[in-house]
Amino acid sequence: MDIPVQNISTDKFLEKSGQKSIERDTAKSGTPVCITPSGESIIRIDHITKIFKEKNRTVTAVDDISLDVNRGEIFGLLGPNGAGKSTLIRILTTLLRPTSGTACVDTYDISNDPEKIRSIIGVCPQNSTLDVELTAYDNLEFYGKLVNIPDSALDDRIWQLLEMTELADRANMKVQTFSGGMRRKLEIVRAFIHHPLILFLDEPTIGLDPESRREVWQQILKLNEEKTTIILTTHYMDEAEKLCNRIAFVDKGRLIALDILENLKRLIPAGDLIEIGFDMIDDKIVTAIRENDLINSVQIKEQKLIISAKNGSKVLPAIVAIFENFSLPILSISIHSPSLEDVFIYLTGKKLDESNNGEKQSALKRQSL
Ligand SMILES: Nc1ncnc2c1ncn2[C@@H]1O[C@H](COP(=O)(O)OP(=O)(O)OP(=O)(O)O)[C@@H](O)[C@H]1O
Ligand SMILES: [Mg+2]
Repeated sequence: MDIPVQNISTDKFLEKSGQKSIERDTAKSGTPVCITPSGESIIRIDHITKIFKEKNRTVTAVDDISLDVNRGEIFGLLGPNGAGKSTLIRILTTLLRPTSGTACVDTYDISNDPEKIRSIIGVCPQNSTLDVELTAYDNLEFYGKLVNIPDSALDDRIWQLLEMTELADRANMKVQTFSGGMRRKLEIVRAFIHHPLILFLDEPTIGLDPESRREVWQQILKLNEEKTTIILTTHYMDEAEKLCNRIAFVDKGRLIALDILENLKRLIPAGDLIEIGFDMIDDKIVTAIRENDLINSVQIKEQKLIISAKNGSKVLPAIVAIFENFSLPILSISIHSPSLEDVFIYLTGKKLDESNNGEKQSALKRQSL
């Protein structure tokens, strides 16, 4: 599927992204060309919007997203169901045309050079495309031929990938006999058969049990060690925390935050949450705790004192000492550092798995008011 050439100026994009070292030129033919010096961003998305129009409904699946992906990183697109993650991946992998906006993948423009882009990327789509009637070896061979790996090199490469996934002893077994985790690992390395510069993994571990997920994570890290840039979508927070250098939160088609994990967590002004369980409490204890400069707020909820503090473990001894001074016992103590889920709740007012129906205000958001 060839996409018609569009003449797009990137000046605005460069201005916004502040990436002066990235240029787009107009070649002799008059078509725009992406020029990316090595070591810089490998994908640059410039105001991409995708609107699906059906008979009686219009969905803005991707809503004016601009971002860049750095060469060699594992980049996470995190968001609830229907956030627009797969649609953005499909646009970047040239399977879908944007309604407006553009993007460069390495030195190629998604509108002008879809064929070139396809030769430098590997894609593992959300829904499996393995042929379960074929063996693991045959699945890899079929795909290898599709991406034009020379016959002389193909057999060696297939065995390399099978060793990498520890599936060599199952090479000649039909994929239908594989577990979910084995299938996913096979599909991921299949996308890697031609040593792509960039690997797109759409929900690589969806539906897998915890052990299989960990195996797939190892696989992803191994491929990243081979200098492959990896873009993965997920709605598992732990997956993004474990794997991604930078994480983009998307919700209802919009980019709502993009940063490294530590910086995303700092978006929550409330900091850590300490919960102290008690049998009896004295107002003087609450007053004494509030006097500590490192504590943001103190609330009593049921039989618990809910304390928010910038650094929970640092202030905890002082809190315990106050209880001791009043000779009142502490029944339980817990410290909760903000997770990615908390950041998402703070930013959107809903949980990741609540999809689009929640306007539920989070405890953290209330706490910060
Ligand atoms: N081909 C299509 N035609 C019409 N609407 C579509 C199409 N593809 C996606 N959508 C809609 O666009 C929105 C975003 O879908 P998308 O698949 O990109 O979300 P996602 O973030 O990948 O979700 P999930 O986590 O469930 O995979 C949804 O509302 C979806 O129904
Ligand atoms: Mg999806």
